Amino acid sequence: MSAIASSSSTSAPQPNSGGIITQPPPPSTLRESRIATHSHIKGLGLADDGTAMDFSQGFIGQTLAREALGLHLSLLKMGRHSGRPLLLVGPPGTGKTALALALSQELGSKVPFCAMVGSEVYSGEVKKTEVLGSCFRRAIGLRIKETKEVYEGEVTELTPSEAENPLSGYGKTISHVIVGLKTVKGTKQLRLDPSVYEAIQKERVVIGDVIYIEANTGAVKRVGRSDAYASEYDLEAEEYVPLPKGDVHKRKELVQDVTLNDLDMANAKPQGGQDIMSVMGQLVKGGRTEVTDKLRKEINKVVDKYIEQGVAELVPGVLFIDEVHMLDMECFTYLNRALESPMSPYVVLASNRGICTIRGTEYDGILGSSSEGIRSPHGIPIDLLDRCMIVKTSLYRKEEIKRILEMRCKIEGIQITGEALDRLAEQGEKTSLRFVLQLLTPSNILNKTKGAVGAGVSVEDVLELNELFLDAKRSTGILKDLEDLENKY
Ligand SMILES: Nc1ncnc2c1ncn2[C@@H]1O[C@H](COP(=O)(O)OP(=O)(O)OP(=O)(O)O)[C@@H](O)[C@H]1O
Ligand SMILES: [Mg+2]
Repeated sequence: MSAIASSSSTSAPQPNSGGIITQPPPPSTLRESRIATHSHIKGLGLADDGTAMDFSQGFIGQTLAREALGLHLSLLKMGRHSGRPLLLVGPPGTGKTALALALSQELGSKVPFCAMVGSEVYSGEVKKTEVLGSCFRRAIGLRIKETKEVYEGEVTELTPSEAENPLSGYGKTISHVIVGLKTVKGTKQLRLDPSVYEAIQKERVVIGDVIYIEANTGAVKRVGRSDAYASEYDLEAEEYVPLPKGDVHKRKELVQDVTLNDLDMANAKPQGGQDIMSVMGQLVKGGRTEVTDKLRKEINKVVDKYIEQGVAELVPGVLFIDEVHMLDMECFTYLNRALESPMSPYVVLASNRGICTIRGTEYDGILGSSSEGIRSPHGIPIDLLDRCMIVKTSLYRKEEIKRILEMRCKIEGIQITGEALDRLAEQGEKTSLRFVLQLLTPSNILNKTKGAVGAGVSVEDVLELNELFLDAKRSTGILKDLEDLENKY
């Protein structure tokens, strides 16, 4: 692409640039590493034949729902999803959100996954459909393949040359850098621009690393450490790669995964990414700062062109909308339309509501609705519901709750006695799994502050906590009692 060549000498390459488009992975694909609510969930835990294993990848029980999701996953992997959204329904704390996260983990980090909560659409600044729209585009990936001219090899020499700084009396600047690259076939010494040296420093390249430098942009990408330097540790963070074959100077196919939202953002704020500009260069006219419908359409056109030419491939990801009953009629209408579009991701919805009013229909008074609004299962309009494949999650038995609690205790490093665990499991059956899971950490703290030495959290700690915290049912019960009392007098 000629746009790249002209910009190469004037602009410094972006950090980590190496392909066509350099962007940090979208936030939606970042995995949390701290101990969070769902950190024990590592996948759906299915056997090769698609049946749910009793306890695997952090999942216990809920076998039917897991198997249903497994089936959807295989359709998705074959690229044959039917365009029908999947709806997860069930009582609170039965693992709907956990199931959706497991699905994203099974898909791997290369497939975009965007999770949102229904109520996120309500903002004073951005239109509801705008929020939904950008989430849709966050869930659609584009894999761009391009053959580029690169210099690739193991770094054998890295010598920056210093010169007097012409602008100030003190300090020195880098005038150029000499980089030696070695492949199986030969070696080459390159004299490079200081901007390339900056990129090399940003990638933290040292002698012995395998890198490639794009000829047109000067973008540097560290591939890994040459395996000639491999040590014999059992565990290492370093990734070792073989010495590249062929010549140092060659044409190489580079693959980059981006989402449509990345492209929108990069083109809306062109100063943000030189590399994106290079791909979408022809779109950017002046400094746009806002993602408009027009810009999206322009980007779609270019994306279509790339797909037609075989340069890019569309990777439909997953859009997960939790608490879908929080969306209103306007959003559902948008959703219906977006689902029909050829560039639609796979949509997973979740709700814990039964029959309730669809938001935004309360004061319609038309189409036969009362001022109370249109009531519908899960607060979803019937026509959308009709399109959904519905998967139900069911309540857990005491034994299952106990095992989930046990697993969480292990992860959080909490010591607990058998009786206390039984007691919590019993309580979980009456209240909810989520409530007892939430009690684990406070009960541990309570146990520690008491300075108790022994087998860990005891039944007394659990009982004491029950006085401090109320679950939803007890709290409602108290309010009901108060109301009755008031009505009496
Ligand atoms: N089968 C399971 N195995 C292991 N952990 C589970 C299982 N089901 C739920 N959990 C854990 O229980 C907690 C509550 O589950 P989750 O948040 O997924 O419920 P939910 O159905 O989304 O509830 P809500 O309707 O209130 O949003 C989470 O920490 C989740 O990881
Ligand atoms: Mg949930």
